[in-house]
Amino acid sequence: MLNYKKILVTGSEGQLGRTLQKRSADINGFDWIFLSKAELDITQTNEIQAAFNKYNPKFCINCAAFTDVLKSEKKPSLAFKVNVEGVKNLTHICNENESILIHISTDYVFDGAKKIPYVENDKANPLNAYGMTKYLGEKHVLRNANFGYIIRTSWLYSKNFGRNFYRNILSEASIGNEIEVVKDQYGTPTNTEKVADFIIKIIVSLPEKGIYHCAGEEVMSWYDFANKIVNENNYPNKIIPINSNYGVVKRPSYSPLKNTDI
Ligand SMILES: NC(=O)c1ccc[n+]([C@@H]2O[C@H](COP(=O)([O-])OP(=O)(O)OC[C@H]3O[C@@H](n4cnc5c(N)ncnc54)[C@H](OP(=O)(O)O)[C@@H]3O)[C@@H](O)[C@H]2O)c1
Repeated sequence: MLNYKKILVTGSEGQLGRTLQKRSADINGFDWIFLSKAELDITQTNEIQAAFNKYNPKFCINCAAFTDVLKSEKKPSLAFKVNVEGVKNLTHICNENESILIHISTDYVFDGAKKIPYVENDKANPLNAYGMTKYLGEKHVLRNANFGYIIRTSWLYSKNFGRNFYRNILSEASIGNEIEVVKDQYGTPTNTEKVADFIIKIIVSLPEKGIYHCAGEEVMSWYDFANKIVNENNYPNKIIPINSNYGVVKRPSYSPLKNTDI
């Protein structure tokens, strides 16, 4: 029988996975199982089957992803395997077990042609391979999951965990460097804690299935964000605004998300 309180989290050592681990400690009434890539590789159907046999979760939160945008462009098949095939595997097992799939996606499904924040049903048109794999993954969930949620977020960062823009800027600032940052791409930087809380809200309230946007409230450029980071940490570094060099990877010049109210 399904355990209505069991929540299995994939990719648990990523920045969002680790934030969820921290946040879940404050939530009573649920039994959380956090599995790292070493414990559950979502591209391996036998590992997924074994995990579902063992834990029989009511919810599967997919924090696993191939998130390296540059590597995705150079080797799209690697990103495809995780962000599309892995997501198909999870959709299938969730359907078989009547489990609810909560899958995380990205603002990079959009092309940036819009000039006001993107809403859930705006047309996706990814500009790069990473965005395309995430788009295909979310499309599969929407079409095939019996009970699936897509939570899109934007410019995700944790102050505590993982590799991200926030922590990169801090580490550059701490060695006193001047820092060049692009000024012509706009987004909504989102703290992983906000997304973790949003996921928990979905689990508790079970709104209609579909796409949800969860992002920071402020639209800004990477340059603005870098200034904000050094200022809030009292570093004196000079941030130097530069234009994007789209060399290998195209990125949307404008990808803020408008939050979904739940
Ligand atoms: N980072 C952003 O700016 C951003 C923006 C918008 C949306 N998102 C989305 O938000 C979600 C969480 O991202 P994040 O920033 O927390 O990513 P992250 O820090 O890169 O974490 C992803 C985790 O997934 C693991 N993983 C990779 N391949 C796997 C596989 N085959 N099976 C199981 N686990 C696997 C990674 O392990 P290894 O590190 O060992 O490979 C890593 O622990 C993703 O869906 C991402 O697309 C991210």
